[in-house]
Amino acid sequence: MHACPVPAAALLCPVVLLLALLPSPATAAAALNTSNPCAPALCGGINITFPFWLAGKHPPECGYKAYQVTCDKGNLTLKNSYWTYQLLDIFYQNSSFRADLSGGLCDSQNFVNASSDLGLSPFKISPKNQELFFLYDCELRGRPRSWTLVNCPSPDDSSVYALLGKNYTPGGTGMPPMNCNVSTIPVLGYEGATGADYQRLLKGGSLLEYTDDEPCKDCTDTGGRCRVNVSDDAFACYCNDGDDGWFIC
Ligand SMILES: *[C@@H]1O[C@H](CO)[C@@H](O)[C@H](O)[C@H]1NC(C)=O
Ligand SMILES: *[C@@H]1O[C@H](CO)[C@@H](O)[C@H](O)[C@H]1NC(C)=O
Ligand SMILES: *[C@@H]1O[C@H](CO)[C@@H](O)[C@H](O)[C@H]1NC(C)=O
Ligand SMILES: *[C@@H]1O[C@H](CO)[C@@H](O)[C@H](O)[C@H]1NC(C)=O
Ligand SMILES: *[C@@H]1O[C@H](CO)[C@@H](O)[C@H](O)[C@H]1NC(C)=O
Ligand SMILES: *[C@@H]1O[C@H](CO)[C@@H](O)[C@H](O)[C@H]1NC(C)=O
Ligand SMILES: *[C@@H]1O[C@H](CO)[C@@H](O)[C@H](O)[C@H]1NC(C)=O
Repeated sequence: MHACPVPAAALLCPVVLLLALLPSPATAAAALNTSNPCAPALCGGINITFPFWLAGKHPPECGYKAYQVTCDKGNLTLKNSYWTYQLLDIFYQNSSFRADLSGGLCDSQNFVNASSDLGLSPFKISPKNQELFFLYDCELRGRPRSWTLVNCPSPDDSSVYALLGKNYTPGGTGMPPMNCNVSTIPVLGYEGATGADYQRLLKGGSLLEYTDDEPCKDCTDTGGRCRVNVSDDAFACYCNDGDDGWFIC
């Protein structure tokens, strides 16, 4: 490092001169409150950030009402008025997440259609799922070979069978099994899986999609922070002017 000759400072050291004219970084940092109450929080190795927000850690303006999650000893759950789902993974890059919709094996939730209760939430079942059918109250003589007997009590104590269908189609099933009551759970599935793998399939969870983060992408692209107006649950982009802190832009 060599010193500047003082008389020729303006010519030889233009960078030094320029820096001297700018407000010093220390002054700028003092004026700017950089603390971010909505910074990502971790639960069980899952990052929680907009549009999700972690109760007890984030204030409510960090995400939409329906995206409030709670963390209990690394167990991340999302509640709505009908369901409590355990979240297994969140994929922010493509606005989707993996959740356990079944509540576990032999849960009474397995005897309703998962899709009908999701209808009221902002989440959609991804068509990447397959349909896992639970069949019960069947009128059968013998059962088809592709059906797996499930060791679970049904609501009417009839036998329960599992059967893995094709890609999930919202609002219905491509394959109505004859003479049975049917409930459908979307599952992610994997190569070679059949109904006999129902336990592993339930554990793998369902892939759900959300769209409420669309305005957030534009906001963060311009350096803003994504927030929600708690009184009407509407999106708000906060910008920073470097002087007065954060304001709605
Ligand atoms: C920065 O903002 C946070 C949250 O609004 C507040 O709690 C904190 O006191 C502020 N810090 C400073 C240095 O102003
Ligand atoms: C969580 O997200 C933050 C911000 O995007 C990132 O810095 C951090 O590495 C992430 N942590 C994990 C465990 O993914
Ligand atoms: C996690 O929470 C879900 C939903 O409340 C519950 O069904 C499940 O048993 C919990 N799992 C663990 C390991 O605590
Ligand atoms: C989002 O990305 C994850 C990880 O790559 C992937 O497993 C998942 O299937 C993707 N979701 C959708 C809806 O395509
Ligand atoms: C689930 O949906 C199927 C197809 O729409 C319907 O036939 C069946 O009765 C429903 N089952 C329950 C338990 O709601
Ligand atoms: C089977 O479906 C029929 C017609 O929807 C219904 O009346 C009956 O209660 C169902 N059986 C059980 C065990 O849920
Ligand atoms: C939040 O929404 C309410 C109701 O629409 C509105 O009156 C208020 O100005 C909004 N607040 C902010 C900070 O945008």
